[in-house]
Amino acid sequence: MRSLLSITELSVEEIDGLVATAKDIIAKPQKYAEICRGKKLATLFFEPSTRTRLSFEAAMYELGGNVLSVSSAASSSASKGESVADTAKVVSCYADIIAMRHPKEGAPMVAAMNASIPVINAGDGGHNHPTQTLADLLTIHLEKGRFDHLTVGFCGDLKFGRTVHSLIDALSRYEGIKIVLISPEELKLPSYVKNDVLRKKGIEFTQTTDLLAAMPELDVLYMTRVQKERFFNEEDYLRLKDSYILTPDKLKTAKPDLSILHPLPRVNEIAVAIDDDPRACYFKQVRNGKYMRMALIMKLLGLTPEI
Ligand code: CP
Repeated sequence: MRSLLSITELSVEEIDGLVATAKDIIAKPQKYAEICRGKKLATLFFEPSTRTRLSFEAAMYELGGNVLSVSSAASSSASKGESVADTAKVVSCYADIIAMRHPKEGAPMVAAMNASIPVINAGDGGHNHPTQTLADLLTIHLEKGRFDHLTVGFCGDLKFGRTVHSLIDALSRYEGIKIVLISPEELKLPSYVKNDVLRKKGIEFTQTTDLLAAMPELDVLYMTRVQKERFFNEEDYLRLKDSYILTPDKLKTAKPDLSILHPLPRVNEIAVAIDDDPRACYFKQVRNGKYMRMALIMKLLGLTPEI
């Protein structure tokens, strides 16, 4: 039995396999419509979510399965003090697979150690969010046709943005990747990601505070929200929250085939006027997340469609 806690647990071949399955689901949804008949997914979300929880649930329904859901800590026995370990043991009695989001880093790992069914990390604190990374990867592959030889800019909150850490981890395994880190000084990528991922793997990277200067060289621009929920001090959040706002005039020097991604939710980082720009991929990214979660659920349940 296998869980997914971090994107690094998937080999390059497995990521390529999930991308291929997701593309097949997009092309032939009927082939997959009954594959999870009789199976149940439990979504255990102890932190707010719109996309991740609903896309997991939509994914399971589109595979013919069913869903049990905890949508907040307050509505579960966690509010009475039940441990993550006990929750995982209990839910294993009802469901076939768990998707868990938790504000505490490592909570999904504790769940996986205690569950008798696969556990998918749906975001743990500022740590990891592997299924968002799968959505990001499918979007990049559909837009660019490859993962290698791309210059990818990450802009905004690179300190607390767990989706940034996971995507850098995933892309650093492909050849010819160049990373441009664009953030205020206070929200720079943590040293452990720079040392353990970028430097260790010999990935070319630069750091800047200047989005406009970086723009012309980018193939992909990954915008992020400043993570209000991870700040201890509201004053700091208010000072930093509008550090980067992408507006149409800032795209004047961008490549015509730039792909603009954002894990969403957006607050103020991308002007609504950009939504109609063909380079805006963030709503396609939302849809792609559902297909990758379908592919992942099947993989972890060991299910393959009949040809
Ligand atoms: N991208 C993402 O994780 O969105 P939600 O917080 O709405 O799930």
